[in-house]
Amino acid sequence: MSFATRMMSMTLSFQIIAALLFITATASSSTSPSGFTMDLIHRRTNSSSSQRSNTDDQLRSSPYSDLVFDTYEYLMKLQIGTPPVEIEAVLDTGSEHVWTQCLPCLNCYKQRNPIFDPSKSSTYKQKQCNTPNDPSCDYELIYGDKSYSKGSFASETVTLKSTSGQSYVMPKTVIGCSHNSSGFKTTGSGIVGLNWGPLSLISQMGKNMLGAISYCFSPEGTSKINFGRNAIVSGNGTVSTPMFTKKEEPGTYYLNLDAVSVEETRIETLGTPFHAVDGNTVIDSGAAVTYLPTSYCSLVREAVEKFVTAERVTYGDNSLCYKTNTLDVFPVITMHFSGGADLVLDKNNTYMSFGQDICLVILCGAEEAVFGNRAQNNFLVGYDHSSRLVSFKPTDCGVTQDIPRDSISAALVLQFNVKFVFFIFVLSLMRL
Ligand SMILES: *[C@@H]1O[C@H](CO)[C@@H](O)[C@H](O)[C@H]1NC(C)=O
Ligand SMILES: *[C@@H]1O[C@H](CO)[C@@H](O)[C@H](O)[C@H]1NC(C)=O
Ligand SMILES: *[C@@H]1O[C@H](CO)[C@@H](O)[C@H](O)[C@H]1NC(C)=O
Ligand SMILES: *[C@@H]1O[C@H](CO)[C@@H](O)[C@H](O)[C@H]1NC(C)=O
Repeated sequence: MSFATRMMSMTLSFQIIAALLFITATASSSTSPSGFTMDLIHRRTNSSSSQRSNTDDQLRSSPYSDLVFDTYEYLMKLQIGTPPVEIEAVLDTGSEHVWTQCLPCLNCYKQRNPIFDPSKSSTYKQKQCNTPNDPSCDYELIYGDKSYSKGSFASETVTLKSTSGQSYVMPKTVIGCSHNSSGFKTTGSGIVGLNWGPLSLISQMGKNMLGAISYCFSPEGTSKINFGRNAIVSGNGTVSTPMFTKKEEPGTYYLNLDAVSVEETRIETLGTPFHAVDGNTVIDSGAAVTYLPTSYCSLVREAVEKFVTAERVTYGDNSLCYKTNTLDVFPVITMHFSGGADLVLDKNNTYMSFGQDICLVILCGAEEAVFGNRAQNNFLVGYDHSSRLVSFKPTDCGVTQDIPRDSISAALVLQFNVKFVFFIFVLSLMRL
């Protein structure tokens, strides 16, 4: 072996060692949990008293007359495609898919932002299928209130901008491109599904984000959503309850509601058909109001009726409304979820103005109980896929919270290291 070749092989071994070191560094940085926080938009919208549940692909009929409440929807901004186009989509823990309305429109509802044009994006790739109506290429979603979205699945770059201005880039995200949708009352361009299913936004973020999300919905101030490390809910006042899944709806987050208290009157689910040990209530950020199944709901309603002395007004069978302008006449409602998660709800979470009157916004008549976003106002609500717990922490959501700093550089570090390692190898080959 000549001196020159020995030098070369020494350089090569050094480079291989260096490369290995980088690979190790890469591995450790890519498994370290990341996290970031985003501001949400909350906007007035109308919710009717018919069930708005995004949890089921099956149509449900509404047995009661439509009472239109002035409610809020919580939307998140996403940048879609290359170059990125901003869309606003409804935050929905009650469904899986991420979709936006796309050109060409066969049938689009009116949205606030311009409609996404996939032909202008260089990273948009429609899923190709051999057979027509293949469920992995074409989709059809029908929500609880009969709204629907039909279109095709595509792989596309989705970018999320954190509150601190950093970008979290998700290349090759599976999104739905909707060409025929109707029945949505949203001002947004689509829906961001956040449930347990494999195509939800949180699932597609991968292990770095720990399968953890939390949000804090404020009735007035700035609402927030947290991902990954930033989504951990802990500290004074935090209570947790197990979440369950059901075979019929594998992605849906079910909680177990043990009882509801109306002031001091505790109404157990035990002994009613509503009682369960493996989940009886869907927690749904995409639904504005809370629904309970009829038989159990009437018990809660009777207790409220017993308490309130104001004059009753009737707007159809489903409403419980009173001629009053003060919340003082109403009882405090506490929801008792299994595992000791007792949520004492603010009166603004359970009652709502309707013209000159105030109504209870826990509505009866649904097949399935839904815990909606109004009732979750001013709680930091965390979903943790690994511990299978939903946690609640009473929080003034409009006030700036202490949240961990964003840490979303891991993916970039990974890219840099892979490039660096590749560079070293190319260098080595050139020298050989
Ligand atoms: C809500 O519905 C009412 C009556 O149907 C309508 O006048 C109002 O403009 C709607 N508000 C929004 C924000 O859509
Ligand atoms: C959109 O979908 C609905 C429901 O499936 C269907 O009835 C309608 O014909 C479709 N519209 C167009 C323009 O394809
Ligand atoms: C926790 O909360 C309770 C009631 O809200 C309060 O009395 C107590 O001081 C708090 N403890 C800490 C450590 O903040
Ligand atoms: C409840 O809502 C009313 C009317 O919007 C508001 O004046 C009041 O401050 C709210 N109460 C709480 C505790 O947020």
